[in-house]
Amino acid sequence: MKRILLHLDTDPQPSSFDAISAIDGGVEQLLSYGNVTPVNVVSLVQGAIFTRSPNDLQNTAIFIGGSDIDAAQTLLERVRETFFGPMRVSVMMDASGCNTTASAAVVCAGRHLKLSESSAAVFGGTGPVGRRVARILMSSGCRVKVVSRSLDRARAACAAIDSGSKLLQPVAMSSPEDLHTVAEGVDVVVAAGAAGVKFCSLKALQASSSVKVAIDLNAVPPLGIEGIESGDKAREVGRIVCYGALGVGGLKMRLHHHVIDQLFETNEQVFDAETTFAAAGNLR
Ligand SMILES: NC(=O)c1ccc[n+]([C@@H]2O[C@H](COP(=O)([O-])OP(=O)(O)OC[C@H]3O[C@@H](n4cnc5c(N)ncnc54)[C@H](OP(=O)(O)O)[C@@H]3O)[C@@H](O)[C@H]2O)c1
Repeated sequence: MKRILLHLDTDPQPSSFDAISAIDGGVEQLLSYGNVTPVNVVSLVQGAIFTRSPNDLQNTAIFIGGSDIDAAQTLLERVRETFFGPMRVSVMMDASGCNTTASAAVVCAGRHLKLSESSAAVFGGTGPVGRRVARILMSSGCRVKVVSRSLDRARAACAAIDSGSKLLQPVAMSSPEDLHTVAEGVDVVVAAGAAGVKFCSLKALQASSSVKVAIDLNAVPPLGIEGIESGDKAREVGRIVCYGALGVGGLKMRLHHHVIDQLFETNEQVFDAETTFAAAGNLR
């Protein structure tokens, strides 16, 4: 029986990146839909769960993407509400690559630090990827500074991740002069800012004696941390271990393909932040 994936995107145009990744992950028939909302998703899900017998439903799965992480999260909840009894299929949510990219970045950091005893700063912590990096680090017991140019946006991101967590700290960094205070006492820095946004230099991070790992997820020049190369993969520069966007990206792509493959193992799995991170454990 063919492996069919419903590719549901909250943006008008379904992502070609997600479509190609699905096919590379072993999907045999891809059905892509754009402009998917919590209202029109119900008939799409019903079409998926009522066409094959419960015993065959593991051959159908759903991928939720788009550039709006909150819209994708709402869609995921609606999809799950539409299931009942054995009438369900496995689902992966990875809007803007948030869960696979963040999981790969945290796996890289965890190779060098005990996360439950560490502290992190996530630059661009309000974006889809930054929010998921912060969430997965927090779930691993790490203290996290969620950094934004605006304290209000940093506070809103912390509230959206987990309003009750004492491990999250909203922090504003509006000028390069703020870097020293932000990096003070931090073991790992993850730059998850918009493409082409530079936050600081590696040299400036070296001035902060606590930083041991620096990860830059931005592949578009200028890079987020000047001095890190895109292809860096555990390159040691002084006492800092560096990862660049492509250095993390290889693991991210392997993880994306692995989770797509896992979707077809049973019909009841849900891959969101923590479950995607757990799946990365098989690839370390
Ligand atoms: N390596 C990989 O495999 C991979 C995969 C996917 C994505 N990525 C990369 O991961 C990064 C994050 O992706 P995303 O979609 O989460 O990014 P995004 O939403 O475009 O931006 C993230 C945050 O960057 C901050 N920002 C925007 N413009 C800025 C500026 N001029 N100066 C300082 N900060 C600025 C904003 O925070 P505030 O407004 O709150 O300051 C924004 O919330 C991107 O560089 C993307 O290309 C890498």
